[in-house]
Amino acid sequence: MTENIDPVAYNRAAWDREVENSNEWTRPAAPDVIAQARAGDWSVVLIGHEPVPRDWFPSALTDADVLCLASGGGQQGPVLSAAGATVTVLDNSPRQLDRDREVATREGLPLRTELGDMRDLSVFPDAGFDVVFNPVSNVFCPELEPVWRESFRVLRPGGILMAGFLNPDIFIFDVPALEEREELIVRHQLPFSSLDLPDDERQRTYGTGPIEYSHSLTGQIGGQLAAGFTLTHFVEAPHHADATARYMPGYFATRAVKP
Ligand SMILES: C[S@@+](CC[C@H](N)C(=O)[O-])C[C@H]1O[C@@H](n2cnc3c(N)ncnc32)[C@H](O)[C@@H]1O
Repeated sequence: MTENIDPVAYNRAAWDREVENSNEWTRPAAPDVIAQARAGDWSVVLIGHEPVPRDWFPSALTDADVLCLASGGGQQGPVLSAAGATVTVLDNSPRQLDRDREVATREGLPLRTELGDMRDLSVFPDAGFDVVFNPVSNVFCPELEPVWRESFRVLRPGGILMAGFLNPDIFIFDVPALEEREELIVRHQLPFSSLDLPDDERQRTYGTGPIEYSHSLTGQIGGQLAAGFTLTHFVEAPHHADATARYMPGYFATRAVKP
């Protein structure tokens, strides 16, 4: 059991390392992707490699104020900016935000970046965004209630929250058995955090990667409803890179509206 770790500080350094290691979620959008987005041909992902249905977004993206929440890496932010939105990217990793600025500079795109924790959006005023776009990242955040509360606050009435997250059930399995032999051995109770593991096992299993939290569906979906959102859409998909994909959805995505 690991104690006295500040998960936000730990994960900031961990995601900076992921940039060094070229994790797929740290690779910036290529010039042709941006050129296509400028021409109106764009898509972004919330979960895995699944494009978000176009009708989840406002019909006119031009001039919509979009907060890409915990969504650094030079991917969704620059694409949505090239598609005409006014985009702010908030992320906990300076190196991930460098990726967004790299693409913005390369392509001459207006893009605001903010370093911060997704639980604290106090840098933004009330009701300043039309869309909060939050791809799979709350798995790295210790608590969800402030994320949904703050997302609700910064959205305008009628504003849209799109969130991608992991099916918590994927955390019940023994990770080395799954990754090395594709064996599904039930081992962990939920809720689970990699911080629950003894230090040496966590380091063996997760290496220098970020700390993860399973989060319940009550926290994910119930939490959005408790914050005041109305759920309009829900989809699930297999995890794009996990042996559980043969048996169960690893990802969920929601679209919700602030009434
Ligand atoms: C899997 S990446 C997601 C970004 C990517 N653009 C995508 O397509 O999904 C997870 C991101 O969440 C960020 N993150 C982790 N914990 C965070 C927190 N507490 N607050 C803000 N961002 C956080 C990481 O720095 C990382 O950039």
